Amino acid sequence: MKFIRWKSDYSVKNKLIDSQHKELNEIINQLYELDPEKDSKQIRKLLNDFVDKLEEHFDTENNLMKESDFPGFFSHKLEHERALRKYSSWVDSMLKKKKLELDKDFFASYKRWFENHHNFQDSKLGMFLSNK
Ligand SMILES: [Fe+2]
Ligand SMILES: [Fe+2]
Repeated sequence: MKFIRWKSDYSVKNKLIDSQHKELNEIINQLYELDPEKDSKQIRKLLNDFVDKLEEHFDTENNLMKESDFPGFFSHKLEHERALRKYSSWVDSMLKKKKLELDKDFFASYKRWFENHHNFQDSKLGMFLSNK
């Protein structure tokens, strides 16, 4: 079973945001299934992709907020900055180790972050954009 299974509640009713969330969750799901002993090359690539896509996604939402004069822009953007720092340094530290290991807390933490940020930030942005 997938680590983060997409459910309709996750939708923020914005095609671009939903597709980026799905893409990030899929990378996490793929990583979760891989074995560091056998799939280290693929894991390294996916970890790098994850950070790149996360940054791209935050840029997308930050731009949508700015263009639409979204009232919660600053606090929402701040959460993006904190999360990008946290997950990119976590990924860096996993990549730097001689023996590649996937930290199980990483997966649980991202899922928790995604759901929390979704409930308190992204869903509000989605609603605001669809009422524009
Ligand atoms: Fe967001
Ligand atoms: Fe988001």
